[in-house]
Amino acid sequence: MESQPSALPPSAPRAVLFDAYGTLFDVYSVALLAEQLFPGQGQRLAVLWRDKQIEYTRLVTTCNDGAHYRPFWDLTRAALVFAIKSIATKDLSTLGNGQFDAQVDQLMNQYRHLSAFPENRDVLTALKARGVVTGILSNGDPAMLGIALRSSGLDGLLDHVISVDPVRRYKTHPDAYALGPKATGVKAAQTVFVSANAWDALAATWYGFRTLWVNRNGQPFEELGTPPTRTGTGLRDVLAFFPD
Ligand code: LAC
Repeated sequence: MESQPSALPPSAPRAVLFDAYGTLFDVYSVALLAEQLFPGQGQRLAVLWRDKQIEYTRLVTTCNDGAHYRPFWDLTRAALVFAIKSIATKDLSTLGNGQFDAQVDQLMNQYRHLSAFPENRDVLTALKARGVVTGILSNGDPAMLGIALRSSGLDGLLDHVISVDPVRRYKTHPDAYALGPKATGVKAAQTVFVSANAWDALAATWYGFRTLWVNRNGQPFEELGTPPTRTGTGLRDVLAFFPD
């Protein structure tokens, strides 16, 4: 016999899909190491790195029908190299043998083990207790997602870990969002998509998901005329979609 979900009204949400980077994992937790390596510039490097990473996902998705696709790990590394070059105060060719590569490797290793937000575990456990299907739907490639989940102790708490890698299209391409309902068997209209990235929450809303935008830092939402279904300040706000 099926448990809780069948007791919900037909249109009630039955599944939650989380964005990973920025939503479950704190992409700016790399700023501390960045600050040690580049004093006075850590925060700036972290922001440049993240912005360039997302820009590269859009470039390879929109150009030449995806012919330039590279996995998220590769784009993340390329974006980091770009960001370091941007903030470099001296000619990088004067750096000692291998020093540049060593800095890149150190930061990439940190990215592999990003801090998870502290509320994640409780929220995922509460969703499970309410019989909700849960998953990640991320631009991250499967290897990165697996390591991030293991190192943050979240593995086993999600029913699905969905990477866009098989379709070689990054969010916000509809083929990427379509992977969610395909994997869970739950329609987009009955799925809550949760993202701390406003652009992702907007595109997921356009795709047809119910959405929660997690606005941890009091930012304005995208000014394109479509609001998310709900806005919250932390992951816990997703529970409001599933009253006890
Ligand atoms: C992700 C990035 C976009 O996890 O945050 O998909």
